[in-house]
Amino acid sequence: VAAAGIFRDIRIGIIGGTGLYSLDGLKTIDEITVDTPWGQPSGPITVAETEQGNKIAFLARHGPSHSVLPSEVNYRANIAALKALGVKVILAFSAVGSLREEISPGDFVLIDQIIDRTKGVRADSFFTGTGVTAHASLGEPVSALLRALVQKHSVSVPAITVHPEGTAVCMEGPAFSTRAESNLYRSWGASVINMTCIPEAKLAREAEITYAIVCMATDYDAWRVSEESVTVAEVMKTMKVNAANAKTLLFAALPDLEHAAYSDPAMEINKPEAGTAAYAFQ
Ligand code: ADE
Repeated sequence: VAAAGIFRDIRIGIIGGTGLYSLDGLKTIDEITVDTPWGQPSGPITVAETEQGNKIAFLARHGPSHSVLPSEVNYRANIAALKALGVKVILAFSAVGSLREEISPGDFVLIDQIIDRTKGVRADSFFTGTGVTAHASLGEPVSALLRALVQKHSVSVPAITVHPEGTAVCMEGPAFSTRAESNLYRSWGASVINMTCIPEAKLAREAEITYAIVCMATDYDAWRVSEESVTVAEVMKTMKVNAANAKTLLFAALPDLEHAAYSDPAMEINKPEAGTAAYAFQ
């Protein structure tokens, strides 16, 4: 992996979604292009330093100028590139549609569950083609420890509600849902909908990286007949406000994230006998 030898001691990875393309406010140390056995990630990885001196790796999921569609993101390369830098914790951000009245546009949801409604066109395993049969557990697809840690810092964004749990539907896109689909997902009990948390969460688990995703509501999706159906303009407007709140929340939580790298009891990598999937990266 090309990044090997440049940085291998970065423990925290941040994946920015729609609207969150950079982390201005932190000291940038480097901008690196990483190549992986699965190809190139969505763009260069920005290495930045926190006030406490901890390094973080930032990657814009859709590329620095939002040129990569959800179905076209090389999720494996994104996760593998962060892994190659030493990342043990990924906090991701994603724009989502709300499937619940009580989740207003502008609210954040720290989802704990995911329903996969992608269409099987995304490469979603590091084990494909390796001749190795391995099955990662996904009963808890998001780290409870990381969610709790971020929730603790929700006081830093008092103007918005940070919901401590929820189920995300991940759809293929790029078109948004029909009203019937939106209502179907509501009947399943889902809270929000996006286009990217699958396979990202699955691959992070295979790579034995502690993963959580902050879902930032931009719209009410198509179910809410009293509103206009979701439009791109609506999504982009709310996203700007969301990006500012995301940075405030992230900067508040950052000092704690490093700690999570070594203390998530759910992660094999924290145990001495680590390595169910790690060999895929050797
Ligand atoms: N991202 C933001 N809003 C969304 C919606 N309504 N459906 C799917 N993905 C989204």
